Amino acid sequence: MARALGLLALLGLLGGASSQPAKDTSSSVKVRWIGDVPEYTSGTTFGVPWPQGQYRADKTSFSASGGGQDIPLQSWVTGYWRDGSIKWTGHALPATESAQEEYTIKASAPSKPSPRNKGLVVKDNARSVAVNTGKITVSFAKKGSALIESIKTASGKTVGKNGKLVLHSQSAIADDVSSRADTAVDYFNFESNIEKVSVSKDSSVRSVVTVRGKYHAKPGSKHDDWLPFVLRFYLYSGSDSIRVVHNIVFDGKAEENFISGLGLRLEVPLEGEELYNRHIRLAGVDGGFLNEAVKGITGLRRDPGQEVRAAQYEGRETPDISTWDERVSSRMHWIPAWNDFSLRQITADGFLLKKRTKPGQSWIDISSGTRSGGLAYLGGATKGGLAVGLRDFWKQYPTGLDISNAAGKQGEITLWLYSPGAEPLDLRPYHDGLGQDTYEKQLDALEITYEDYEPDFDTPYGIAKTSEIYIHAFDSTPSSERLALLNGHLEEPPALYAQAEHVKKTKALGSYWDLPDTSSQQAAVIEEHLGFLNKYYQGQVEDRRWYGFLHFGDFMHSYDPDRHAWKYDIGGYAWDNSELSPDLFFWQYFLRTGQADVYRFAEALTRHTSEVDAYHIGEWKGLGTRHGVLHFADSAKQARITQPQYRKYFFYLTGGDERVGEILEEMLDTDKTYGVLDAHRKVRKDGWVPEPGKPTSISLGTDWAALAGGWLMEWERRGPRWEEAREKLTKTASGIANLTNGFVTGSGLYDIEAPALLPPPEDPDNEGLVSISHLSAVFGAPEVISEALEYWGDDAPEGFKDAWLDYCFYYGATQAEQEERYGQAFSGVSLRQGHSRLTAYHHSQHANDTVAERAWFEFFDTDGFRPNQTWKAEKITGPGVLIPVDEAAWVTTNDVAQYGLAAIQGLALAKEALEGHAPNAS
Ligand SMILES: *[C@@H]1O[C@H](CO)[C@@H](O)[C@H](O)[C@H]1NC(C)=O
Ligand SMILES: *[C@@H]1O[C@H](CO)[C@@H](O)[C@H](O)[C@H]1NC(C)=O
Ligand SMILES: *[C@@H]1O[C@H](CO)[C@@H](O)[C@H](O)[C@H]1NC(C)=O
Repeated sequence: MARALGLLALLGLLGGASSQPAKDTSSSVKVRWIGDVPEYTSGTTFGVPWPQGQYRADKTSFSASGGGQDIPLQSWVTGYWRDGSIKWTGHALPATESAQEEYTIKASAPSKPSPRNKGLVVKDNARSVAVNTGKITVSFAKKGSALIESIKTASGKTVGKNGKLVLHSQSAIADDVSSRADTAVDYFNFESNIEKVSVSKDSSVRSVVTVRGKYHAKPGSKHDDWLPFVLRFYLYSGSDSIRVVHNIVFDGKAEENFISGLGLRLEVPLEGEELYNRHIRLAGVDGGFLNEAVKGITGLRRDPGQEVRAAQYEGRETPDISTWDERVSSRMHWIPAWNDFSLRQITADGFLLKKRTKPGQSWIDISSGTRSGGLAYLGGATKGGLAVGLRDFWKQYPTGLDISNAAGKQGEITLWLYSPGAEPLDLRPYHDGLGQDTYEKQLDALEITYEDYEPDFDTPYGIAKTSEIYIHAFDSTPSSERLALLNGHLEEPPALYAQAEHVKKTKALGSYWDLPDTSSQQAAVIEEHLGFLNKYYQGQVEDRRWYGFLHFGDFMHSYDPDRHAWKYDIGGYAWDNSELSPDLFFWQYFLRTGQADVYRFAEALTRHTSEVDAYHIGEWKGLGTRHGVLHFADSAKQARITQPQYRKYFFYLTGGDERVGEILEEMLDTDKTYGVLDAHRKVRKDGWVPEPGKPTSISLGTDWAALAGGWLMEWERRGPRWEEAREKLTKTASGIANLTNGFVTGSGLYDIEAPALLPPPEDPDNEGLVSISHLSAVFGAPEVISEALEYWGDDAPEGFKDAWLDYCFYYGATQAEQEERYGQAFSGVSLRQGHSRLTAYHHSQHANDTVAERAWFEFFDTDGFRPNQTWKAEKITGPGVLIPVDEAAWVTTNDVAQYGLAAIQGLALAKEALEGHAPNAS
């Protein structure tokens, strides 16, 4: 409700009717491009934070200016402070060819509505939704298979039609080529089947059309509908482009449903265009393109004329054929027409490009290349056409671009998110269980490969994948320079940032980070180390080829120095799946530096971890999978991996990315999973089994903190379940405060119905259990709790803050101090470097210098990365490695994440004590 009211006011439909005198609180925020100022943007959405207590949704309007001009702005609220004032806004700016260096976003009383944009017109009726951006009109069907009915340019040309999703799958894969003859394989073809279409209410600058459905078998294929998809089409005023965010959730069976092709196909009407005026452009390497026509008139034995050749090559209409050299014009029927083109990016290192005259004739090789930019154009010099591209094309191999029927009436472009030219997507387990049929054996196997295995837990059922696509419409074939520009846009869609100083000042993403300050020698060295770690991970992605459909965005957990390789094949050490919160480190590093390379890296990480490493449907919806050789194979399914805090930075900075927002809503059901899956099932001795809706034992760190992160965001967003979320957050926090030993109790009994958090089953009378875990505070707990405490302010549950500060103080305290406070010393204290940020946080609240000193001692002189580390990578070449690599064998992702977070938060919370702290470098 609050959300709806806010929107109305922001639209300028409310306002002015306030009984309170409006104090002048207008102020402005500067936003700048992340990286270089773009030459072109197809429209941009971004987020801006506001300090608490300043702006009410019903009394504020937002406007934008840049380069001395007012610019149309669409605004909405994505987050509120507890008192109802605006915490985060999302904003959309129209497409532009003349982006400004910076924009000023002004919040003021709603007297001055931002200039009305005449560009965007939305027509929503029973049959379809049509959006007119001023440059193009796109019509979306509400039924059937063609999501995009048509794309028309302002001049009235239909340049795209019948846009559908296509899917191919098969029932089995032969083990090798010689067993193909004995393997029965059924092949299936599917198309999108639309179930639901909706369009954003406010569409002054940006309109979002959301299409949901499933893949439906085409006639001749016998198969149930499957693979739920969501497509979001983003259209901006003044734009001739469409941004498409495509998402699927895997709801099949690994042993029976092998995806062999997944794509988006659009028809391009070419009727009436001469074959020699039809153009194909396929992105090659570094902004290069294949520039060809369906019927080539260059390179022939006879020359049609220089002007004719130049026109065709440049994509312009040729002079009339009557003016050509007749030795060519009279023999056009002997020149073959190239109907089909196919680019297959089968690995991150190579693509193959070929063409043929028609089905049934052989393909001829055009060339191969390394990394295609992922953009394809098909169209005519007079009829116009479409370019379609996939972001991070080669990084998400196997991908592909097909042009087909280019010599026919309706040409087609197919963008393959998963190329049929590759082997099918194989989601089966990578081993047969190795006979691990009891918990005892599984625990013993964990001792050696560190894999947490259990039969049937290695399932991909419920994992998801998101891809980002751009479609551009043209009245005539564009220059290849123009396409190169659009390819750059595709690779790094322009994004705006409200700048570190401002974000920090508002506290909208917490108070636990600060801008880099290298004025002291000690701090400068730490900054250098943080910079090294960021660069090293970006470099390792490339050296180790951490690319691919399911992998791009992730990195590995730990390193095998003997082989000079990350442990990609060792049970619990391979893909990282957010272990120890690297997501938080890379995002917080971005917040403070605003660096473009870090933003892109963190964005890819968030896209990957929020989709592939998590379950989005089914009994385990809301849980993620522990690190391992396959992203979904390990049997530890936990909330710590889906911690919503990992998505928070990206969500708000992007003005509320709709797909991430949807994932955040899914994660509100995480607490139900405790009723069906006991995380402690392998070690439990008391015979307890979970029951849906019944109280369950959860850990206060890895479990509660992840639930709390989700509840806090839902409350902030005032989402559909915000009151439930607020109640759960506040009552469970109260319950923790009520425990005799607070967070030191380690776990509690969570009653989902009440909701309440009660003493754990081991201590029903709350006499005081002492049980800490090194993992409790390394999956987002410090960030979530610190933000929650600021959110509650004076209204925090009584005793909760002290309970957390006690945990912060005593985790790294001496055994004598622990004994004095809790009657016993803690066992299992490790990751002390990472926990130094808890000590620093304690200091920030109690200003005790001894504690601040201790924080830096823990940071420098306990475990994790030591100051005497080389802080360098070495180049390894020669026969000992597959390909030359940079190696820093001392780096593990656990240490990177925890060192990084401890450094950032120590510098923000206890910097004064760093001066003069001489780390023991011996
Ligand atoms: C705190 O404990 C008291 C007594 O043990 C109990 O009455 C009360 O309901 C508890 N409060 C919460 C929020 O659990
Ligand atoms: C500061 O912390 C130390 C323990 O590290 C404690 O002994 C001392 O009493 C604290 N000082 C104050 C003023 O609370
Ligand atoms: C760094 O110092 C520690 C002791 O403080 C020592 O164990 C370690 O070997 C040293 N590492 C290097 C790379 O010198």
